[in-house]
Amino acid sequence: MIGVRRRVGVLISGRGSNLQALLDAAADPAYPAEISVVISNRADAYGLQRARDAGVPATVIAHDAFASRDAFEIAIDAALRAAGCEIVCLAGFMRILTPEFVNRWPNRILNIHPSLLPAFTGLHVQRRAIESGATIAGCTVHVVTPDLDSGPILAQAAVPVLADDDERALTARILEQEHRLYPAALAWLAEGRVRIDGNRALVTGTEASGALLSPRPEGL
Ligand code: GAR
Repeated sequence: MIGVRRRVGVLISGRGSNLQALLDAAADPAYPAEISVVISNRADAYGLQRARDAGVPATVIAHDAFASRDAFEIAIDAALRAAGCEIVCLAGFMRILTPEFVNRWPNRILNIHPSLLPAFTGLHVQRRAIESGATIAGCTVHVVTPDLDSGPILAQAAVPVLADDDERALTARILEQEHRLYPAALAWLAEGRVRIDGNRALVTGTEASGALLSPRPEGL
C-alpha cells in the first residue's frame, strides 16, 4: 500500500546532480516523499532546468537581491511553506543557514556533504581528504543543526582513496555514492524511521554488515 508522501523542498546552488537523484527516486509513486519545490539562490543553476524537466516548480531566490541574510532566509522559508513542505533537503546549497532558519525546521533539514563527517567539514573536502593521507573517504547525509556540518549523521557511504587519485577522480567516486545515499536517507526520514538521540540519529530497520578495509588485504 502506498502511504502519505512527505512534501520536500530542495535548496540548490548549482549543477543539481543530487537533486536529480532525489527527483528520480520520487518519480516512483511508492517512494515516501515527493519534491514539491526546488529553490536556487543562483539564477544560472543547472538544477533549475532539472526541476522543470521533472515538472517540479523551480524558483530563484537570489541571496544578493536581499539587504540582509535574514530577509533572504525569510523569503526561502515563505516559499517552502507556500509549497507545503515538511522536509527541506540541501543539495549542493552553498549558503550557510542561520540558527534562526534552522530552528524553524527542527530535525527537518537534511544535508549531503562529500566527506566522512566529522572529518573534513567546510570546503574542498575531497582534496583535503587526499592530502591528509586517508585511505577511505566518502559522503554523509546529516540532519542540519545550527553548527556547520555537525548535526546527527543519518547515513554514510565510504569509498577508497586510490594511490593515483586526484581531486577530480575522488570527487567523481564519492558523487556516485552520494546519488545512492541521499534518496535512501530521505526515505528513512520521510517514513518516520529516524529517532534523534543527542547528536545521534538512530534509524530503525537498518543494520551495518561486516568491516570495510582500504586497501583491502589480499585474500579478503
Ligand atoms: C555535492 O558533492 C555535495 O555533496 C556538495 O556539493 C556538491 C553538489 O553537487 N555539497 C557540499 O559541499 C556542501 N557543503 P550537485 O549540485 O551536483 O548535487
